[in-house]
Amino acid sequence: MKEAMIKTKILTALHIDEAVALLKNGEVVALPTETVYGLAADAKNVEAINKIFISKGRPSEHPLIVHIDTLDRVGEWTENISEDAKKLAKHFWPGPLTMIFTKKNSVSSLITGGLSTVAVRIPNHPIALEIIKKLGNGIVAPSANAHKKTSPTQAEHVLKTLDGKIAAIVDGGTCSIGIESTIIDMSKEVPVILRPGAITQEMIEKVLGIAIESPLKHNEKVSGNMEFHYQPEKPLYIMTRDHIEKLLPTEDALAIMHYSNLHQSKNITYYAMPTEKTLYAQALYATLHTIDSTDVKKIIVEKPPFLSEWSDINDRLIKASSKK
Ligand code: TXA
Ligand code: MG
Repeated sequence: MKEAMIKTKILTALHIDEAVALLKNGEVVALPTETVYGLAADAKNVEAINKIFISKGRPSEHPLIVHIDTLDRVGEWTENISEDAKKLAKHFWPGPLTMIFTKKNSVSSLITGGLSTVAVRIPNHPIALEIIKKLGNGIVAPSANAHKKTSPTQAEHVLKTLDGKIAAIVDGGTCSIGIESTIIDMSKEVPVILRPGAITQEMIEKVLGIAIESPLKHNEKVSGNMEFHYQPEKPLYIMTRDHIEKLLPTEDALAIMHYSNLHQSKNITYYAMPTEKTLYAQALYATLHTIDSTDVKKIIVEKPPFLSEWSDINDRLIKASSKK
């Protein structure tokens, strides 16, 4: 089913009630969270949820995250909240942590992609929280970009792939974290990180007082686990500084995202990235969107430090790259 083009309304924090009314009416609305912009639908309206899959071009077996506003509402989605999950919720919610639980029977399989588990988080953003509270049902919200494309951290990034396909966007400025939430599977005996994010393995282990798992590869069906994802329009290659220096000079028009000092060379547009991880994360998707709007042929990214703190950045860049 293909959706006809509609006029996408641009709203702001002053129009929360209008956004809520659209959601109540079964429309999809993009809104800011602290990680990336999400494409929201009423989590208890199956027809509305279906619109998310249509407007993103997202395969229907790809499960969605339920976003709620208070801890006491987790019980609407799962009956199995372990003591460990409660500890993590108290510590990190609202915030960039998504927890996977065994789902309640009543949870639509459209949300879970047919899985017996459901993903839940409380986002840490005043606009998202107010909308969820006023709607009352929870929202499901994947990142607000066409399937497999670079995630949006600003309203204009959302419009690049979804303008004319969604009822509205609430412009709340730039997302403070810039990378999708950490996903941790709490339905297993030992918690497993399925997608790295701003809440690191070490931070979680410190709160739980136990070692958790963080496999590089796991069940294909889940969690940004596709080999290619987050891809900019231009081919992206990850290279060490030495490798980049050997490549230059070149006749190709290239964009280089670097954090070391590099000798400047012709035909190259340089994008100096922060050396501090949280600042790098904030800048990552915005820089990829900026480069995509120029006419360079390729994006070269200087290989970030291979440190656990940087695992979310490495994860996203590897999936965004054209050559492994
Ligand atoms: O930061 C975020 O998490 C953002 C903002 C908008 O909240 N949302 C987001 O959603 O990144 P999305 O749909 O782009 O990514 C959600 C990931 C998917 O890779 C999906 O496979 C995984 O969550 N997921 C959802 N439910 C799951 C489940 N029951 N088991 C395993 N993975 C699940
Ligand atoms: Mg996504």
